[in-house]
Amino acid sequence: WMMGVAGLAIAYLIGATPTGYLAGKLLKGIDLREHGSKSTGATNVLRTLGKGAALVVLLVDVLKGVAAIAFARWFYPWFYSLSYDMPPSAYDLQRWGAWAICLAGLAVLLGHGRSIWLGFKGGKSAATGLGVLLAMSWPVGLAAAAVFGLVLAVFRIVSLGSMLAAVTAIALVCSLEQPLPYRLLVIAGGVYVIVRHRANIHRLLAGTEPRLGKKSPDAG
Ligand code: G3P
Repeated sequence: WMMGVAGLAIAYLIGATPTGYLAGKLLKGIDLREHGSKSTGATNVLRTLGKGAALVVLLVDVLKGVAAIAFARWFYPWFYSLSYDMPPSAYDLQRWGAWAICLAGLAVLLGHGRSIWLGFKGGKSAATGLGVLLAMSWPVGLAAAAVFGLVLAVFRIVSLGSMLAAVTAIALVCSLEQPLPYRLLVIAGGVYVIVRHRANIHRLLAGTEPRLGKKSPDAG
């Protein structure tokens, strides 16, 4: 089980890589945790540093999710390497492999949202969550991304798009035939992403959530 924990720690550290924070420090010498929404996610990078930096941070943050799942699949290989003619004890390993990979998906989200390098602050894990979805089951990831794009195009509010994308992913894995660990990963991860948007929810209800393209240095 030490191996299991080590794999989760590595997935957490992949997520904890402070992409947005580093962009702020390197490009403008600022700490993103003190600007805009205080998030280190791509949206706050866009607000604070501009489009180019935001695109790079977005891509790297999505890739962190993909990388953590790719790593977990390599690290917990039983999930894929076992076949149907193996003895029953092997199925147990297979089962544990599936759970371990899904836990690694949660660990990378936690790492991004609560980075050990940033005093356990970070982003809201939407982009990294998309990476996890794409790596686990790309049709679900694409559907979530499509909902995000649609909501963004209509309302121009990133947080609303992120949360509705999370709801879409949850609804899809609950209605489609999916393995239990993956279902639970998407439900827990989706709820985590929504909970990380608490401040955004309050601003949305108060009608003060900034729209894309509008400067709002004090969004908290
Ligand atoms: O993924 C984060 C986004 O949904 C909201 O970011 O900075 O507007 O709180 P922000």
